[in-house]
Amino acid sequence: MTRDTALDYLSGFGNEFASEALPGALPVGQNSPQRAPYGLYAELLSGTASNIASRELCRTWLSSITPSALHLPLTTSAPTTLAPPLGEVTRNRLRWDPQPLPAEATDFIEGWRPMVATAAADKPSGVSIYIYSANRSMQRVFFNADGELLLVPEQGRLRIATELGVLDVEPLEIAVIPRGMKFRVELLDGQARGYLAENHGAPLRLPDLGPIGSNGLANPRDFLTPVAHYEDSSGPVQLVQKFLGEHWACELQHSPLDVVAWHGSNVPYKYDLRRFNTLGTVSFDHPDPSIFTVLTSPSSVHGLANMDFVIFPPRWMVAENTFRPPWFHRNLMNEFMGLIQGAYDAKADGFLPGGASLHGVMSAHGPDAETCHKAINGELAPHKIDNTMAFMFETSQVLRPSQSALECPQLQADYDSCWATLPSTFNPNRR
Ligand SMILES: [Fe+2]
Repeated sequence: MTRDTALDYLSGFGNEFASEALPGALPVGQNSPQRAPYGLYAELLSGTASNIASRELCRTWLSSITPSALHLPLTTSAPTTLAPPLGEVTRNRLRWDPQPLPAEATDFIEGWRPMVATAAADKPSGVSIYIYSANRSMQRVFFNADGELLLVPEQGRLRIATELGVLDVEPLEIAVIPRGMKFRVELLDGQARGYLAENHGAPLRLPDLGPIGSNGLANPRDFLTPVAHYEDSSGPVQLVQKFLGEHWACELQHSPLDVVAWHGSNVPYKYDLRRFNTLGTVSFDHPDPSIFTVLTSPSSVHGLANMDFVIFPPRWMVAENTFRPPWFHRNLMNEFMGLIQGAYDAKADGFLPGGASLHGVMSAHGPDAETCHKAINGELAPHKIDNTMAFMFETSQVLRPSQSALECPQLQADYDSCWATLPSTFNPNRR
C-alpha cells in the first residue's frame, strides 16, 4: 500500500471502529484466535481501566506483524529537555511571546518546551502543557506513557504515522493520540510549531450538550480516524518512549508501525476546528465560555473538568446593549491560552499567534484597557469576528509554570500593564 492510499479516514467519535489493510486480517467473532490470519499477533491496547463503566470503556485490538513485547532493555537516551515541567507556584498572570523556531536540527520529540503542568505524570489526573517546534521529520518512532496527547498545530502541516494509520494535520486542525500509541511525526512544510496538551486523566471526550440538544458545537461525524496502514520493513529503528518526563529508548530490527488490522475505540483522530458549530447569544449578554468546548476530560468531581479544550472561533457578534468582549472575571479554572491565527478579541495587542498566557484560579483577568474602551464607546451593530482562532486548555487543578517558561526571554515583563490604564468612570451623579 502506498502512503497516499493510506490517507483515508473513518468518521465518528467513540465508535467501535474496524479497519484492515489486508482483506480478512481481523479475526472473525473473537479477538485472539489460536492462529490469527496471515500469521499476525493479537495485542490489546487499553485506554481505560477494564472495569470502568462500559460506556466509558476505551480499548483497541491490534493485529500486528510483531508483538510490542519484542524489544531489548530500555536505556535513557541523550539528556532530555523533558524533565518534569513542574515549577514554581506563581500568583501572577503571565504571558509569553511566541517561542522561536529551533536553530539546530530538531525533530518533533526533541522540540518540546514545557510551559505549565498541574502534577507529575505519575498521577492519574492533571495536564502538562508544552509548545513544540521542529525543523526535521522524525526518523524514529515514539510513544507517550505519560498521557494522551492533544496536538494543536500553529505553523506547518504534520503527517502523523500511527500504529492505526496515517493522519495529515494542518493548522486549524487538531489531532489526539492515545496514551501508549506509537507514532512518528513527519514535517510536510519543513518546519512546524504548535501546542501540546498531555492529558494524564480520563481520555478526552465530547462534552454533554444539555439543553443545547443533539446538535451543535463539535459534531461527532467530523472526527476522523485513519484507516489501517502498516510498514513491513527491516533495519534498525529507534523506539523512544516518554515515561515520567524522561525519554527511554531501544533499537528494533523492524518498524513498530506494523499493525495490519485493528478494531476498537482507543484510536487516534483529527478534527477540523473550522467545522465547529459555534453557538452564542442572539439577544443580550453572552454565555459562559463552556459554550465553546470542543473536548473535555472529566475529573472525579461531577462538573469539574480535569481538562477542557475550548476554542474562540470566528463568529458573529449581535448582542444588543451588551459589553461584547469576554467579561472581566475570576473563576475556579486555571486557564492556559494560545493563539493559532489572527487576533483574540479580548486583547488589542501583545498576544500573538504562537504566544501563550496563564491565568490561575481566581486571578482577575479580562479584556485589556484598549479593548474595554472600544467596547464601551463603540456603536453596537452586528459584526463578524473573523480570521481568528484562539483556544484554551483549562483545568480545575493549579497550573505551575516550568522553570524554563519562567526564565525564557519570551516571558513578558509587563503583562499587567495591559490593564493599567483602565480608567475609573464612576460618577455617583450620573446613572
Ligand atoms: Fe478567563
